[in-house]
Amino acid sequence: MKIKNICCIGAGYVGGPTMAVIAQKCPAIKVTVVDINEQRIAAWNDEDLSKLPVYEPGLDEIVAQARGKNLFFSTQVDEAIAAADMIFISVNTPTKTYGKGKGMAADLKYIELCARQIARVATSDKIVVEKSTLPVRTASAIKSILDNTGNGSSVKFQILSNPEFLAEGTAVSDLLNPDRVLIGGDNTTDAGKEAIEALVSVYGQWVPQERILTTNVWSSELSKLTANAFLAQRVSSINAMSELCEKTEADVNEVARAIGMDSRIGAKFLKASVGFGGSCFQKDILNLVYIAKTYGLNEVADYWEQVILMNDHQKRRFAHNIISTLFNTVSGKKIAFLGWAFKKDTNDTRESAAIYVADELLNEQAQIAVYDPKVQTQQMYTDLDYLNTRPSAANQAGLTVHQNPYEACKDAHAIAILTEWDEFKTYDWQKIYDQMQKPAFIFDGRGILNLEELEKIGFVCYQIGSSAKQL
Ligand code: UDX
Ligand code: ADP
Repeated sequence: MKIKNICCIGAGYVGGPTMAVIAQKCPAIKVTVVDINEQRIAAWNDEDLSKLPVYEPGLDEIVAQARGKNLFFSTQVDEAIAAADMIFISVNTPTKTYGKGKGMAADLKYIELCARQIARVATSDKIVVEKSTLPVRTASAIKSILDNTGNGSSVKFQILSNPEFLAEGTAVSDLLNPDRVLIGGDNTTDAGKEAIEALVSVYGQWVPQERILTTNVWSSELSKLTANAFLAQRVSSINAMSELCEKTEADVNEVARAIGMDSRIGAKFLKASVGFGGSCFQKDILNLVYIAKTYGLNEVADYWEQVILMNDHQKRRFAHNIISTLFNTVSGKKIAFLGWAFKKDTNDTRESAAIYVADELLNEQAQIAVYDPKVQTQQMYTDLDYLNTRPSAANQAGLTVHQNPYEACKDAHAIAILTEWDEFKTYDWQKIYDQMQKPAFIFDGRGILNLEELEKIGFVCYQIGSSAKQL
């Protein structure tokens, strides 16, 4: 079966870039990305490519090449579903904020709504692809909804799981050159095998065959949660060591280098930090913990939960270190934040460590001045308000946003590096120092600055995981 028409429901950080790359690499396939959010679709259609709703290096060029040819962004969800032979579900699956599983389980209401909408609208056979990260066995719920609602048994559905492994900030290169593509499907029936092959041949247009893995649906669903849990665990493991390094004159960068050269451990994902953020790690581990508990596997649940507890500790520890270093009071003191995004090269702030560090400091009545090259001002206030710690007006009063890093740092008592944006390394640090209160402190939560140079200028420096740079 040759796919000619793809619909993707959800034009977010996953759906948008993934479909742009599929469209660019498969010119014979018409790709329509739909979303109920009109503003988002308008932004994807904006002539001015700097206004795309997702910032990813290289994405604007790909959108420019494919948009209007075989890549379309639309709010006409029903029409796109009806016309497609393959439908990707790429909507958000946030942690539940109510009811059973509150604070842990994935909220599947958006997924279910999509399944019901597909069932209602479809008049021809469809391959439905789970792109969103989902709890293991969700496909059976989707299949049940598809088979039991809508136009009856005349329309046949095949469900595939095709988790997305792209990381934000490197989405385009991850999509163009993935380590692997994972496709889970029903490999016990001819129709299931045919659906798997159809999706294999889409990716096969640019991904080498040996990197396209096919498994059963449940393995594929669980592999995505497992991959994110392992990655987050590495960050929490090195962060745990960072605290020990600070007490023992070891240096976490040296330790990471030493262990990373062991090919069994590997060098990647060993950068100590103020804590991992992003929409996936915390949500997926909580989800994993919830699933384990549901099966009564309490030891498994506790084991993975510790990764989150360590991460929460790391964020809090960073904030408390700032407070204690600034003579145990930050009340009324200006503290500049360089970076608000959860990592560099993205405008995404979901679960960013910066939000939690800001929250702790605002509790102590600090005045926070933020500069981030890509995050919009309103987003920062939305992030803080979402925590529901204090009234919105108090967040407005306690935090100011600057378009210029030198302005953000002027008259500050301390600077905290929360995101590893490359441009921070190129600043005129002497100029920044001259305009700050003295003693001028830097708290490098990302390990990106050359502290020897900064110390020569006169800064008092702290770097995560480095006892040599302890205050
Ligand atoms: C992650 C997975 O990498 C990706 O495969 C999956 O599809 C989605 O979740 P993402 O959250 O976009 O991607 O970014 P990632 O690069 O994994 O970083 C997550 C967080 O961990 C960031 O806050 C990052 O700063 C932090 N991190 C990462 C560290 O603190 N140290 C590291 O060594 C690596
Ligand atoms: P992700 O990071 O997983 O891509 P996002 O939140 O960035 O998540 O994107 C998910 C998108 O899915 C949002 O733009 C949201 O409006 C859209 N969405 C959610 N439910 C539906 C639905 N039933 N139909 C169409 N779009 C939907």
